[in-house]
Amino acid sequence: NEGKLWGGRFAGGPSPELEAISRSTQFDWRLALYDIAGSHAHAKALGAAGLLTGEEENEIHQGLDVLADRFTSGRLLPAASDEDVHGAMERLLIEEIGPEVGGKLRAGRSRNDQIATLFRNYLLDHERVLRGQVLDLIEALGTQAETHLGAIMPGRTHLQHAQPVLLSHHLMAHAWSLLRDVDRLDDWRERVVCDSPYGSGALAGQSLGLDPELVAAELGFTGSSANSIDGTASRDFVAEFAYVCAQIGVDISRIAEEIILWATREFDFITLHDSWSTGSSIMPQKKNPDISELARGKAGRLVGNLTGLLTTLKALPLAYNRDLQEDKEPVFDSLDTLEVLLPAFTGQVATLVYNTERMAELAPQGFSLATDIAEWLVRQGTPFRIAHEVAGACVQAAEKRGVELDELTDEEFASISSALTPDVRLVLTAEGSVASRNGRGGTAPERVAEQLDELRSKVAGF
Ligand code: ARG
Repeated sequence: NEGKLWGGRFAGGPSPELEAISRSTQFDWRLALYDIAGSHAHAKALGAAGLLTGEEENEIHQGLDVLADRFTSGRLLPAASDEDVHGAMERLLIEEIGPEVGGKLRAGRSRNDQIATLFRNYLLDHERVLRGQVLDLIEALGTQAETHLGAIMPGRTHLQHAQPVLLSHHLMAHAWSLLRDVDRLDDWRERVVCDSPYGSGALAGQSLGLDPELVAAELGFTGSSANSIDGTASRDFVAEFAYVCAQIGVDISRIAEEIILWATREFDFITLHDSWSTGSSIMPQKKNPDISELARGKAGRLVGNLTGLLTTLKALPLAYNRDLQEDKEPVFDSLDTLEVLLPAFTGQVATLVYNTERMAELAPQGFSLATDIAEWLVRQGTPFRIAHEVAGACVQAAEKRGVELDELTDEEFASISSALTPDVRLVLTAEGSVASRNGRGGTAPERVAEQLDELRSKVAGF
């Protein structure tokens, strides 16, 4: 059991099979610098408690610095016999500064409180990157919205033509949902940053007079865990983070699906930029929306990571159980996935060219102005129940003759209802329809311009 953290009570060494299943260095090695930062902080706490002399503490800090340098330059690697990043770091430190002083660092801490802390630190750092990437996508959507203020498109429900809307309005709907994801990340951070578990020990706390608040402050936390069992056993901070990642993935997948549809010949709403689309190995004409397809696919993976995590946590008794080692790979994967996906997706969104003529041409089709007839009648004093019937009869008449609503004659309108005077034509254009929806949150151009300002000032406030 040479080099193991727990050899004392065992007569024989671990079987290779046990070592293989137990090993986590293949994925927790990325926490090495966080482990080292934790050790620096812990050495300070040991020093402050009088358990290390100033000289010993310095020796530890220097040894840790050497390890950090070696890690940064890619020269620090785990051995096959290392169980996890924590054990490897202790082995490496002892190799660096000797067992006399190196062997003192483990006092008063456990891998259970170490990992619970380091994982928080890792996620807190990466949350910054993720947040910036989501904001970049929001900005790309906002810029496209700003560029196309005034462009009208068919708004849909059930994927059927519903009512004309501004393209900008539609794009910003996606931006708002992503902005809530940024808000969720901030909210998550607030809960995590005040809760450093270092000092919780294995589960019951430590008896050496160490100051967890000192360690917390050293590691950038604003406070330490109030309950050592909760500190070592809880992983809701992981699940919550995975949820926000999954939600970001789902929100992006909804944009992705539209890009895929809109780029079809049938829709012909957008043209993908050459640098942000792919070709086919056999069909020379192809230009494929692969980024969006990958985004749509990866959303499934992000949801899977969340689902797997929650399933691991369900019914897990307190306090630490080794099951908890399964918490890292899914979230590392979610982060890795989004950190590659988001820049690609943003580039694709930012470079889309919109065929606004085609969108405008289709906007009033499919009887999408029927609601406008009904609401125009309401403004003339007709009860909505009747107005709905009358507008429905207009649709029936137009459908029968194979024309759009604005192609009905004055006589046809009059024969459907005496309330339908030629003035109804005022609302029988996509522009008129859009302009009339001028309540807060509506699609009228002046409202959408306001909305863009509102979005921008929210983003600026973040
Ligand atoms: N590697 C473990 C994890 O990721 C931490 C070590 C805890 N091991 C233990 N035997 N208590 O959760």
